Amino acid sequence: MNDLLFPPTFTWGAATSAYQIEGAWDVDGKGPSVWDTLAHQRGFAGGATGDVACDHYHRLDEDLDLMAVLGIDAYRFSVSWPRVQPDGRGSWNPAGLAFYDRLIDGLLARGIEPLLTLYHWDHPQALEDSGGWLSSETAERFADYAEGVAARIGDRVRRWITLNEPLSVMSAHISGASRPAGPLTLDDGLRVADNLLAAHALATPRLRDHGEVGIALNLAGFEGDAAERARAHEDQLFLDAVLKGEPIDFLGVNWYAPARVIASHDPLGYARTDFPGVPTNMLGWPILPERLGDLLRWLRDTYADLPPVHITENGLPLPAGIHDPRRIDYLRSCLTQIKAALDDGMDIRGYHVWSLMDNLEWDHGYDPRFGLVHVDFDTLTRTPKDSYHWYRRLIARQPR
Ligand code: BGC
Repeated sequence: MNDLLFPPTFTWGAATSAYQIEGAWDVDGKGPSVWDTLAHQRGFAGGATGDVACDHYHRLDEDLDLMAVLGIDAYRFSVSWPRVQPDGRGSWNPAGLAFYDRLIDGLLARGIEPLLTLYHWDHPQALEDSGGWLSSETAERFADYAEGVAARIGDRVRRWITLNEPLSVMSAHISGASRPAGPLTLDDGLRVADNLLAAHALATPRLRDHGEVGIALNLAGFEGDAAERARAHEDQLFLDAVLKGEPIDFLGVNWYAPARVIASHDPLGYARTDFPGVPTNMLGWPILPERLGDLLRWLRDTYADLPPVHITENGLPLPAGIHDPRRIDYLRSCLTQIKAALDDGMDIRGYHVWSLMDNLEWDHGYDPRFGLVHVDFDTLTRTPKDSYHWYRRLIARQPR
């Protein structure tokens, strides 16, 4: 741990998203999101839904206090679009806005910077009914929503993320995992990508007066004989668009694991395969934290005008429990890679563990747990894990 000392300006944080923690799916005027529909239509692994999740909506103060004791400088959260604008267009929901007002005030009172994500996948069902991301109208509504949120609660937010992981949104539309009406063709998947990029591009200028604007991209880092092809189709699809077009103020990078790909007769010409002999986590992802360094070097070498980078997510899923030495090892190894990249001159400004607390891992339900804080989903009791205390001590010993 001794050499994990970062510059005094480095931001230490933790991340969550609305649907995964808030619960309160239909209270105080909230409209249904597309994920509420999916939960009620199919149920997720183990019959899970996000109806209650961590009940963060009703336990805000307790969760804010957990963040304060942890000592983080920043908290990355997302606004649930249908909580603040139930139909995704037109009228606003004062009670929903009041919740985020209290969240932001509660953060600032504890000396924690809000890092606000506008879209972490849970758009209003009303917009899905009129085409969702297949329709260019959704991009326009997103820009209006961004502007509306900024005008109503943005006076205390300095850093904005438009979209979380547009590549995941596109893939989950193609597979049907995030689309109540089922899978899409590859061509329609590309229409989704186009509209997501339009949403980002339309919203960005409307947020600029309120602070820095970025986007959070999930990147892998590819290996294997089809790596180049996979890189072009996945890592570079959104990177090229946001870095070569209208510049962003910072790039959010979500990173969990690299991918190994081999040429195949798949429509895309490649397929994922195992890393021989490498252990995998409970979601089947290879545990190779040292590859984060390769990805960061590749980013720096590939994009001459790379803006400052924030690691907006990084974490390891484990079964329930408060003793999580494997998570500590994984996070420590990833931070070692980030430190090496910083020492190499790369401009990395912050780091956010995924996640502050155990939560709903989308269609995988509640079993894969990413939290620094354990949540008992029967009683909703929160208990800090060993990793929470490790992270707290690490933050406490940083130069200030
Ligand atoms: C998402 C999170 C998710 C995490 C772990 C990211 O893809 O942004 O919502 O829980 O990875 O799978």
